[in-house]
Amino acid sequence: FSLLSHCYYKKYTMGTGRLRLRGRTSMLLNVQYKSSTRSNFTGVQTTLETEIIQRRDQARRSLLIQVYSPKSHNDLYNYCSRFGDILSMHHYQVNRNHYQENYILVEFKDVVSVDEIMSYASFVRSDYIAPVKSSVLWFRKGQVAISQKYQTKVALTVEHGYIYVNDKKILNVLSNAKSISGQIIILYETLRLTDLEIRLRFHTAQHLEQYFSGLFHNMRVLPFGSSINGFGRRKCDLDLVLVPNYSQEGNSRLVFHSKPIRHNDRTETKEFLGVLANAMYQFIPGISNVRRILEARVPIIKFHYDYTQIECDLSATNMTAVYMSELLNLYGEMDWRVRPLVTAIRVWAKRQEITTDVPGQWITNFPLTLLVLFYLQQKEILPSLKILKLHAARGDVRCTENGIDCTFLRDINKLPADFKYKLNQDSLETLLHDFFEYYSTFNFDIYGICIREGRQIQKPSHTALHITNPLETTLNVGKNVSFYELNRIISKAQDAVHTLETADKTNEDNWGIMTLLKINNVNTKNLKKLNNTKESETIKNYLENRSYEISDKFDVSEENTN
Ligand code: CTP
Ligand code: MG
Repeated sequence: FSLLSHCYYKKYTMGTGRLRLRGRTSMLLNVQYKSSTRSNFTGVQTTLETEIIQRRDQARRSLLIQVYSPKSHNDLYNYCSRFGDILSMHHYQVNRNHYQENYILVEFKDVVSVDEIMSYASFVRSDYIAPVKSSVLWFRKGQVAISQKYQTKVALTVEHGYIYVNDKKILNVLSNAKSISGQIIILYETLRLTDLEIRLRFHTAQHLEQYFSGLFHNMRVLPFGSSINGFGRRKCDLDLVLVPNYSQEGNSRLVFHSKPIRHNDRTETKEFLGVLANAMYQFIPGISNVRRILEARVPIIKFHYDYTQIECDLSATNMTAVYMSELLNLYGEMDWRVRPLVTAIRVWAKRQEITTDVPGQWITNFPLTLLVLFYLQQKEILPSLKILKLHAARGDVRCTENGIDCTFLRDINKLPADFKYKLNQDSLETLLHDFFEYYSTFNFDIYGICIREGRQIQKPSHTALHITNPLETTLNVGKNVSFYELNRIISKAQDAVHTLETADKTNEDNWGIMTLLKINNVNTKNLKKLNNTKESETIKNYLENRSYEISDKFDVSEENTN
């Protein structure tokens, strides 16, 4: 058997094995698979840290393999199962260069199987100067394997609407809901990242990490931002950070000679990322459209990842952003209403062109999310960061490489009872309406928003919008927002209040949040109406998963019983 390198793979058929490594081939890398699942942050694991460790482990046990069609599943299964037990196989398609490409993500039980199958892989060409190994491969045509050494077959999970959810589908599910609160939950459930999308995001990080591990010692690539904080939606960008792992430092008398590139030196970080960007473009398969944004406060490399069609941002040693993701995730975990509400407001902002995909003088999703969290603090649904810091345990202590204290309570179960019991049991509908009302009258001229204190503060700067960065309090997350854009947010919020209060509730194709999301102009003629059972199921599943928090006062519970 052998696996083949995946570069210009359509043109070449050389090699002896059936799977080819995907790779814009160049220098030979010493790819190592580390099977350790030790805590990669600090030794003490929190819920999100544990999940990240599990997802990273899952990614190390997985290979992304391009196949001719979903029908190659059996053949691929037979081939791969000779190397070990397979736990799952997931198929999806992407449109690349006008071709539909088929991929199967194969998850093995043990990392050694991946090791072994990779060692059998071959390269497409033998005349490349320095071939690169990669965990993205191509399964070329060959004899159908006869026997399978291991377990019984696993079913292929097929993700039909991979990434893309069109307006018709959203309209369909929303028009079938029975209340605005129900619509908000359904919107969240429809747009949230699927298991396959999360797997692929961690696999992308793993793919890069493999490459970097051939160049540098013990570097990790961690996803952060909306891919892991629970606020991610289909097709949201993938934020990645490259961080050194110091845990293996010993006290040997022999110390490696190294080039002194210090991560707290801005110029050196920029130069490092500049070099890395070139190498990524030249050598890592699947990476295209590389852009260097090195003058930003946090220098980043932007690139397109062809195998998943996702835009990615890679930064270096930016652990504060990872801890920020933990904080946002924690707030999302605290109350079942947080994530659906944030999703509805993020979608509203996108539809109203308050946010766009390109950076500029407008608000982006991260500060917008902080606006929602702050509003929920005012509603006494979420505690301030000050309280979370006050109740931090010894295992919660975190400090970044440049001395930023990111300590806060990570285990919400350890919050004192009076913070857990929420007097506010407003429905999502009320919360959405009141969010718009709150910010349409907020005095942005005088006050700034402070998640850390959980209250408004005197604005310390002359910028239009002041949102104190919760972890780095000297920074203003809303600094880039112009007065014009802030006024647009306020006026759109006022419009939303008006729309919600006056919308025609009898128009079944355009009611509730559909009126805010501007998706009523889809041709509804051929829409197959969902039956009510299906809609209730979605809400029921969501609520059941969060059952520890469900209040009997919540109005969606009526729908569950239908
Ligand atoms: N971040 C930060 N300070 C900022 C901007 C971003 O700490 N001024 C961190 C946050 O943890 C944020 C992450 O970087 O979640 C990624 O930023 P961004 O991609 O802009 O936001 P996301 O939350 O990922 O939202 P989106 O879905 O739009 O990508
Ligand atoms: Mg992001």
